[in-house]
Amino acid sequence: MEITKDIKYIGVNDHKIDLFEGQYIVPNGMAYNSYVILDDKVAVMDSVDANFTDQWLSNLAAALDGRKPDYLVVQHMEPDHSGSIVTFTEVYPDAVVVSSVKAFAMMGQFFGTDFAGRQLVVKEGAKLELGTHTLQFIGAPMVHWPEVIMTYDSTDKVLFSADGFGKFGALDVEEDWACEARRYYFGIVGKYGGPVQTVLKKAAKLDIQTICPLHGPVLSEDLGYYLNLYNTWSSYQPESEGIFIAYTSVYGNTKKAAELLAKKLTEKGCPKVSIADLAREDMAEAVEDAFRYGTLVLATTTYNGDIFPFMRTFIETLSEHGYQNRRIALIENGSWALTAAKVMRGLLESCKNVTIAENVVHIKSALNEASLSELEALADELTK
Ligand code: FEO
Repeated sequence: MEITKDIKYIGVNDHKIDLFEGQYIVPNGMAYNSYVILDDKVAVMDSVDANFTDQWLSNLAAALDGRKPDYLVVQHMEPDHSGSIVTFTEVYPDAVVVSSVKAFAMMGQFFGTDFAGRQLVVKEGAKLELGTHTLQFIGAPMVHWPEVIMTYDSTDKVLFSADGFGKFGALDVEEDWACEARRYYFGIVGKYGGPVQTVLKKAAKLDIQTICPLHGPVLSEDLGYYLNLYNTWSSYQPESEGIFIAYTSVYGNTKKAAELLAKKLTEKGCPKVSIADLAREDMAEAVEDAFRYGTLVLATTTYNGDIFPFMRTFIETLSEHGYQNRRIALIENGSWALTAAKVMRGLLESCKNVTIAENVVHIKSALNEASLSELEALADELTK
């Protein structure tokens, strides 16, 4: 696949993977992208997962058409991209490995060698001349590992963005970009909003016509759309108007309250209400929805003197991922000890700039007149 006259796509699609990074379901597989820039000198941009080394080398050989690569640029050392580096260096013993000092340290850790004698260490702003193309390296630490660099080709105005602007899903499956890019972003990069903001500021100074990420499609149209979404996500601002209700329910009574609240919110004019049972919904999808909207309702039960485990995991995951700047409402259920709201408040203390709604719904086993009136008051407060 041709990206520009001189830049070819040589990545692979993975439909065998069950869990990306050992935890994320990827029903449409995963793409490990790699590119080659053919100029007077030839640069290969990143490798792929070790399960696809042969296919990647074959894609590379076809693009090279008898030439030999001069450089392998390693932007990120996570094994989905670094898994074929060692084989590459054996097949092409004259190629120089180009990367950050931190990445070379990681190569020592992962491979037992840092390719001394054939390494080119690049720092922020360093340039590599290939002929007509000049590559400029941009530090992108914590997007989402500390060694990450991005690369700008000023000739074709291409930004090689490492994991940035990536998404779940292989490239031979048609699907909406934002949904799986958002789930990917908040799951994998979400904690590092500050570093993403820093990179976006650097990118704003460049004339970018194409973004070549390490996952997901190459982006070449309406780049403002993608850049704006990344700005919203990394600054922890809500993306869409609406309310997300996340609940757990043991016998259905908390579920009934959550669903009734959803109905009332819609009736009272809330433009979008999303609802999820945390025991059955993909946790990464629920995390994505919590970040998408400005208001989150949490409904759960007392359980073993704490809260239902899926709710604890959900709140802890949000907190780990830097959840902030949101309004949160609480619904608690307990047959003999109503303590869930107190536990949730405690867990939420680690989230910055979170406002708890004044009205808390207290359910003793099942909805009754008192809890129904609290539910009504909460719906009023959230749609005011
Ligand atoms: Fe796609 Fe952070 O690896």
